Amino acid sequence: MGKVTVIGAGNVGATCANALALRKVASEVVLIDIKEGLSEGKMLDIYQTSAVMDFNVRLTGVTDDYTATEGSDVVVITSGVPRKPGMTREELIGVNAGIVKKVMREAIEYSPDAIFLVVANPMDTMTYLALRSSGLPSSRVFGMGGHLDSSRFRCYLSKALGASMSDVDGMVIGGHGDTTMIPLIDKASWRGVPVSKFASAEVLGKVVADTMVGGATLTGLLGTSAWYAPGAAAANVVESIMFDLKKVIPSCVALDGEYGQKDICIGVPTVIGRGGAERIIELDLSADEAAKFAASADAVRKTNAVLNEIGVL
Ligand SMILES: NC(=O)c1ccc[n+]([C@@H]2O[C@H](COP(=O)([O-])OP(=O)(O)OC[C@H]3O[C@@H](n4cnc5c(N)ncnc54)[C@H](O)[C@@H]3O)[C@@H](O)[C@H]2O)c1
Repeated sequence: MGKVTVIGAGNVGATCANALALRKVASEVVLIDIKEGLSEGKMLDIYQTSAVMDFNVRLTGVTDDYTATEGSDVVVITSGVPRKPGMTREELIGVNAGIVKKVMREAIEYSPDAIFLVVANPMDTMTYLALRSSGLPSSRVFGMGGHLDSSRFRCYLSKALGASMSDVDGMVIGGHGDTTMIPLIDKASWRGVPVSKFASAEVLGKVVADTMVGGATLTGLLGTSAWYAPGAAAANVVESIMFDLKKVIPSCVALDGEYGQKDICIGVPTVIGRGGAERIIELDLSADEAAKFAASADAVRKTNAVLNEIGVL
């Protein structure tokens, strides 16, 4: 039934591994980190839930030993450091870029045919780096951010409308950042009916604003960035790959003319199946949405430029 490796056994990586096991997405899940014993401990802990949670998945935790990742179908990259006090954005990009490049190189050596899902931040830029530095086709290297943002969007929408979550549809496209993401409120619907039928512009404006600061709200409450929803969202993307579900998931993919953009990885709805990012869906954006998307792409491009400035690309 396949093998999935998660790189980085921190909050997001371990939560993702746990969700993969619970939902029986693969027959083997490997968790790898550079911190001695961390992956081993987390996988042992997850393994000890298997009798009560009823799953039978081989769980392997290793410290920096990529031989254990050999033959993975999907590799999820969550390894990275959060921004520390006094650290500039360039310094953060420099550190995480070094990590992402290193783990991509090592993982590809043992799983040359894998699909790589980038989660580490700044995610749009790390995805661009992973794609460009690996030379792999863009269908096999893409990022997760918009899926999490869309999940938050749907939560805020369902609460505002008093609707069941599964009846509410909404997508967030653009960059994965407080100011770069674009919750598509005019395309959101309750069972196919535009949400503007059910809530005022003021209420819907608050839904959009809450979605855009969704990550920051949790960081404020937790003192670090969130992990349950990010880990679950990453596992959900892996599930669509492993079971060839062909779900339309807002994903950070390389654009080659779609949405008027080239040479950039940014969030757009994408069909996710056994071939990875199989097809980009081009939405008909309104003039306002298109202008926001262009501005978001400009901002992502500025962050990508740091990769050249610091010499990692
Ligand atoms: N894309 C998204 O939607 C999203 C959401 C939340 C968090 N994130 C990002 O995901 C990343 C992980 O977040 P977290 O909360 O789990 O952080 P964390 O600090 O809990 O975990 C990161 C782990 O990476 C490990 N690591 C560092 N260098 C490594 C290397 N070279 N090889 C293997 N492992 C290495 C660390 O030892 C640590 O255990 C961060 O960059 C965070 O900003 C992204």
